[in-house]
This record gives sequence, structure tokens and C-alpha cells, in this order.
Amino acid sequence: MTKAEDHILVIFGASGDLTYRKLVPALFDLYAQGLLGNKSAILGVSRTQLSDEVFREKMKKGILAFANFGEESKDKIDLFLKSTFYQSLNTFDVSDYTLLKDRLEHIDAEFGNNGNFLYYLSTPPNLYKIIPENLAHHKLNRQSKSIGWKRIIIEKPFGYDLKSGIALNRDLLKFFKEDQLYRIDHYLGKETVQNLLVTRFANGIFEPLWNRNFIHHVEITTSESIGVEGRGGYYDGSGAMRDMVQNHLLQVAALVAMEPPTTIEATSIRNETLKVFQSLRPLNDRNVRNHVIRGQYTAAKVRGKQVVGYREEEGVDPDSRTETYVAMKYFIDNWRWGGVPFYIRTGKALPTRVSEVVIHFKPTPHTLFIDNKDFSNNGNLLVIRIQPDEGILLKFGMKIPGAGFEVKNVNMDFHYSDMKQTYVPSAYERLLLDAMLGDATLYARGDAVEAAWGFVQPILDYWKNDPDAALYGYPAGSWGPEIADQLITEPEITWRYPCRNLAEDGIYCEL
Ligand SMILES: NC(=O)c1ccc[n+]([C@@H]2O[C@H](COP(=O)([O-])OP(=O)(O)OC[C@H]3O[C@@H](n4cnc5c(N)ncnc54)[C@H](OP(=O)(O)O)[C@@H]3O)[C@@H](O)[C@H]2O)c1
Repeated sequence: MTKAEDHILVIFGASGDLTYRKLVPALFDLYAQGLLGNKSAILGVSRTQLSDEVFREKMKKGILAFANFGEESKDKIDLFLKSTFYQSLNTFDVSDYTLLKDRLEHIDAEFGNNGNFLYYLSTPPNLYKIIPENLAHHKLNRQSKSIGWKRIIIEKPFGYDLKSGIALNRDLLKFFKEDQLYRIDHYLGKETVQNLLVTRFANGIFEPLWNRNFIHHVEITTSESIGVEGRGGYYDGSGAMRDMVQNHLLQVAALVAMEPPTTIEATSIRNETLKVFQSLRPLNDRNVRNHVIRGQYTAAKVRGKQVVGYREEEGVDPDSRTETYVAMKYFIDNWRWGGVPFYIRTGKALPTRVSEVVIHFKPTPHTLFIDNKDFSNNGNLLVIRIQPDEGILLKFGMKIPGAGFEVKNVNMDFHYSDMKQTYVPSAYERLLLDAMLGDATLYARGDAVEAAWGFVQPILDYWKNDPDAALYGYPAGSWGPEIADQLITEPEITWRYPCRNLAEDGIYCEL
């Protein structure tokens, strides 16, 4: 992999959870592999008063607990942390940014980063306008060959709805140009998600089949086994549609559905993503009612343990109508996908944590072999497993040896875990390195974010404005409201349920 250019990474929200659990461990992993520039430095920024030393101690704990190379590269941690600093400032107060400017000049003079600054906004979203504005006030957004590049990474959520999503883009563009903006969607940093592009566009066998003539439907599932786990206050103002569907699920669906890009570069890939979003069939009240199911988990015993219902979670309104589950059916109105339904579902407190894309191919036009319990002529499946047990599987029918023509479903599969020699970087590692290299291919572009908001807005409006809009309860530990099965109307076709309960405490998910 290419080594990053020397720069200073400025993390706003450095006293927070994301910095501790994900960002600094990922930065250390890059460092341990020699991928950070020799003169690079990190400056953590937040309001909490911390010395460099205390910040380094905290980050060391985070690295030991969460970095891939933590234990095995223990001796490198202190060296890495020598170029890690902390600056306390009030992010709201523009005059405080002189402290930041002075500190950056000082570090730059010591390390020689050529004025290359990468900002990371890991703060509450109400600061996404203020921080860029205050940086611009101190000319910390200005870039040129002589004074170095300036880039800014923004964590989701990119707005709360279409209106605020457009306003956020407008505000960001006042202070930074689109090519300086990196909107992070960590799903796109996952190897298997990127592998979708390789599967489709590096293999002559798949691309000819990848259309309405051969694909019956596409199914995308992202389930979590945990509930809101102490983040009830945040989640109750968000819900599954905003937290998962508007960003992660639609981005993954775009990679499944996009036309071949002309090159594997940011502009080409992001142009194709936008075209998919622009082709989504708009939803109205009637098809929201019929094609979108929302649910909320209720108390239940899961593998021997009592789990509280969503409304009993800390920080959640006891009358909350926020959805913890969404299943929906939609269409992409273009030449490739005309008439092919896309089914997506996501939820909390489901039986297991799994993310996968399933391509259901059409069955053979005529049934020669009689269906039996191990085989039904419902078509071949291509399963792209994003997590856990990342890999890819093709399911097809084979003859059982012996008399007659008994057919059985068999799997041809590849697991990333089989590539023992190959290191699989974490999503944050990959995405941080890309931003350091100025590659925005796996980051969301403003116009696509707005188009995705435009698609989900009628759903949010219907739920908000119609008191009769249904919200279905589902017991924690189940696969969501049973009514979601009715989204798939064709006989003999159901959602894929990849995981079986093996025992009281064990769930086995076959790829
Ligand atoms: N944690 C995750 O796994 C995750 C995943 C995806 C996206 N995100 C997003 O990443 C961002 C950070 O998440 P987090 O989990 O790290 O949040 P967090 O633990 O609550 O940390 C928030 C950080 O922002 C700082 N901050 C600055 N000004 C603030 C203000 N006015 N009010 C409150 N805090 C302020 C806080 O530090 P001071 O109080 O010291 O200033 C703290 O360092 C959020 O936008 C979140 O939605 C997080």
C-alpha cells in the first residue's frame, strides 16, 4: 500500500469514544505497518482539559485494547505516541482557535509537515458547521502547493433529513471545496464491500448475468444482536432509517446496482453512485404503507437472558415511536434493473450480527428434477458476506450420487479468513489512509447524500405526519415483525435466514 504524505491529523472530539476505540487504534495500525509518513503527527482537540501525557496514556489503553497490532507491536506504541499531542479548546469560541493555530504552527515547525492538515470531525453533529467556519476564520482552510493541502473528514450523520442535509452541504461548501470534503461511511471501508466492485467488474462470468434478465431479486440485510446499549438518548432521535438505511444500506445497494465505472477513481465511482440514487423509484404514501415496514423491539428472553424492550432503555422516551427495525422493498427504474425488486432490512436486537448481500438468480425455465427437501428450483444464490466471516458463496444444485436424479444444494465458497497470510485492514485504517492520500473514492459525495435523503424523506414524512402509520413490535431476539415476510409476495420465496440457533447460548451463521 502507498505510504501517506506527511501531515498533521487534527481530531476534534479527541476525548470521545470514537477516537479512543477506532481512530487512534487504526492510526497506530497504519504506523505499525510503516504507512504513516515519518514526519506525521496527531493533534487531539476537545474541551476537556488534558495534558499531552494524560491523553497519550488514555490512547495507549485504547491501542492495547482495540488495535490489530497492539499487543504484538507494544514496543512501538510509545514511539508512535511521541508524535501525538492534545489541545484543549472551546470548539464554539472562535477566539480559542488561535490556540489551535499556534499549536499547529509549532508542531509543523518541529516535524516539517509542509502545512498539510487533515481535520477529523468526531464531535456531535451540531458542530459540523461551527468548526469549519472557525477554521476558515483563522485561514486554516486555505491550501496551495506552497502552504500545503487542507482536507476535512466528517462523521455521519450528514443531516437529519433532506432539508438539513442540503443545509449542511451548503454550510460546508462555504468554507471548504467539495474536493476537500471527505464524508465517511465506514461501511465503504470494509474489504467485502469493496470486493463487490471486484466481483462484478473483474470477472467475466458475473457481469453478463448482472441484470433483470437473470436476477430475480436482490436482498440486503444488516442485523445487530444488541439493542441500543446505553446510546438510547442519541438513537431515539435518529432511528434505523436515518442511522442505517439512508447511508450504509443505500451505499451498499449502489455498489450492487451501479453501471460499470469508466475507471476505479473517485469521480467515476461517485458519478455512478449518484445515477443509482437518481433512478430509485420515488415513494408515495401508498407505497410507503405497502412497501416499508418499521418495528420496535419489545422485552423478551433471549438465550436465557431477559432483554428489556426499547421503550424501557435508558434515555428512550417511554412512548417513543422511533423504529429500531426497517424492512423495505424498492425498485431502481433504469434499463438494467427494470422490474427487479430490492429488499433491504436492518434492525437491532435481532438474533445475530450479520451483514450480507444476496443476489437471487432466476430459476431455470423448466423444472426437470423434482424438488426435494435439500433442493428447490428457486434459483442460484450468490451471497456476499460483509460481516462476520467475510466471504462470498455461490449456491447451486448438484446430483446426489446414486440412482435417479436427486439434487442437493451445494456451496462454492471463499472465506477471507482462509487468506491467513493476508492482513485485512480495518475500515477506519483504509479510509484514513485514503484521505491522507487524497483519494475520496470510498467517501460519500454531497450530491449523492442529498439524493439518498430525497429518497427516504417521504418515508420519514409519512411516519411523522400520519398518526395511523403502523409501528410493529417484535420480541428482542426475533427476526423482526412477521409482517415483513409479506413484502415478498412471490410464492415460495422468503428472506434468507442465515443463522440458526444451535443451543441456548450459541448461534451459528452459515455463509
Ligand atoms: N462511536 C462510534 O462508534 C461512532 C460510529 C459512527 C459515527 N460516530 C459519530 O462520531 C461522532 C463522535 O462520536 P463519539 O461516539 O466519539 O461521541 P462522544 O463519545 O460523545 O464524543 C464526542 C466528542 O465531542 C467533543 N465535543 C466538543 N464539543 C462538544 C459539545 N459542544 N458538546 C458535546 N461534546 C463536544 C467531546 O469532548 P469535550 O466534551 O471534551 O469537548 C467528545 O470528545 C458523532 O457524530 C457520532 O455520531 C460515532
